[in-house]
Amino acid sequence: MLSPKIVKAINHQINRELFSGYLYLGMSSAATSLGLMGIANWFFVQMQEEMIHARMMFDYVNRQGGRPLLESIEEPPQKYADPKAMFKKTLEHEREVTKLINNIVSLARVENDHATEIFYQFFVTEQIEEEANPLDILRKLELVGDGNGLFLLDKELGMRVFTLPSQAQIQP
Ligand SMILES: [Fe+2]
Ligand SMILES: [Fe+2]
Repeated sequence: MLSPKIVKAINHQINRELFSGYLYLGMSSAATSLGLMGIANWFFVQMQEEMIHARMMFDYVNRQGGRPLLESIEEPPQKYADPKAMFKKTLEHEREVTKLINNIVSLARVENDHATEIFYQFFVTEQIEEEANPLDILRKLELVGDGNGLFLLDKELGMRVFTLPSQAQIQP
């Protein structure tokens, strides 16, 4: 069983995951409009991952007898000058998400909720990747500039495919 405080915190995090998905879907659209279909694909896969994060948390609250209540999702920014601006925003956003995840773990500790603390270990580890990926791509963008290098990087990012995390215990 989850305490009302924990349910509230996870419900809010479900909203933040859905917003993250919305943010990346907006970036996918912006990349498409710039003709960068590989980057558009990368952000679409990123959106799919965020939807799974939301689903994992949604299922967790349900399995623990809580009630996932959905908050409204705001419109994401949709105008970006170039891919650099998108990945900068991604890195900035993921750093904020890391703080939110850490806050849930801290709250779970205060509430003596071991199950929630363990459940969130996946997301603690996931956030390392979530910050490392845009940072890595930003460094590459700095290196390649706007010419042929960008074309090749776009091609590379077009190879990204969505895979369901093994920790995703999806309910039938
Ligand atoms: Fe996420
Ligand atoms: Fe994320």
